[in-house]
Amino acid sequence: MTPQPQALRSLEARYYTDPAVFAAETEGLLARTWQFAGHASQLANTGDYFAFEMAGESLFCIKGRDGEIRTFYNVCQHRAHQLVSGAGTTRVVVCPYHAWTYELTGQLRAGPNIKVVEGFDKSTVCLTQVRTELFCGFIFVNLDKDAKPMDEWFPNVRAELASFVPNWAELKPLEWVEIPENCNWKVSVENYSECYHCTLNHPTFSTGVIKPETYDIQPQGYCLRHTTESTSLDQLSYDIDSGFPNNDKYSSWFLWPMFSFQVYPGNLLNTYHWRAVDADHVVVWRGWYSVGGEDNETVRRMAQQDRATTVEEDIHLVESVQRGLKSRGYVPGPLVIDPNCGVNSEHSVMHLQRWMREAVDD
Ligand code: FES
Ligand SMILES: [Fe+2]
Repeated sequence: MTPQPQALRSLEARYYTDPAVFAAETEGLLARTWQFAGHASQLANTGDYFAFEMAGESLFCIKGRDGEIRTFYNVCQHRAHQLVSGAGTTRVVVCPYHAWTYELTGQLRAGPNIKVVEGFDKSTVCLTQVRTELFCGFIFVNLDKDAKPMDEWFPNVRAELASFVPNWAELKPLEWVEIPENCNWKVSVENYSECYHCTLNHPTFSTGVIKPETYDIQPQGYCLRHTTESTSLDQLSYDIDSGFPNNDKYSSWFLWPMFSFQVYPGNLLNTYHWRAVDADHVVVWRGWYSVGGEDNETVRRMAQQDRATTVEEDIHLVESVQRGLKSRGYVPGPLVIDPNCGVNSEHSVMHLQRWMREAVDD
């Protein structure tokens, strides 16, 4: 008798609810993947810096005299006081505890009375640096010194994004929309990464932005690339005449594990950044960009429309799923994998769940 093929089942609930899984992700996954830190426009001038948290660490990015953006662990190499908080501009980094002073390259420059320490060579002291990459104006960092570059993790994405947003170097954030969700970050990411639920749950998106029957999501390394034809352009609620190629297209590049670039027709760049709080909570930051960060009626209207429709609709879905995952009555069901892929297929969730398993079990 030929064995029946086994349907691939969705991940067991504990992956989304168990604090031990969350701890493993924080220490493992987040410490060896590329994470969004901020936008290069936040560091326009020499000495500009901002601090941020990632994988349980405090870090800061700072712009050097050579124009390079570097990232350091936010810890003094004397007796471990934190160096900076928030954002600002400085000529040198001065530790608030005993005033040891570091160059913008992280090199120790001076400290009160350190000359008395025999055999102490200050040239051997430097802040601990973190791998940093600029990706179309976005700053990403990776705590893993040996991490492969982003172009290997996410093949072709840089070139594709640049072709959808040719003016990326002129863009600055116009709006940040904060969306707290009572669910595990993976529930939110999975929901973002399939459109099997779109027609039923996102009437505005499905009729006003995309043509669901043309929607597909395919892996590209550790990127999930969303492509679709747009709604006939006269149905769009705004003017897309940007003068750039690809101005009639919607596209999205989800970068595993917690970031996505999204481009709306009219070459409108917007982003998702998931920040996991604990096993049951995530905050999603939606970034909206305009030339020079200048007020732009269309971008603001799109940000508002998106928050009021797609985002609002998704909150209810993901929070209900999180409650369901905690039910004793839940048995993981089969993923609906269509060999032809397309909008009514969950092959993209299959790829995600493989990465999710890898992150925790390997
Ligand atoms: S801990 Fe920074 S100067 Fe002492
Ligand atoms: Fe959705």
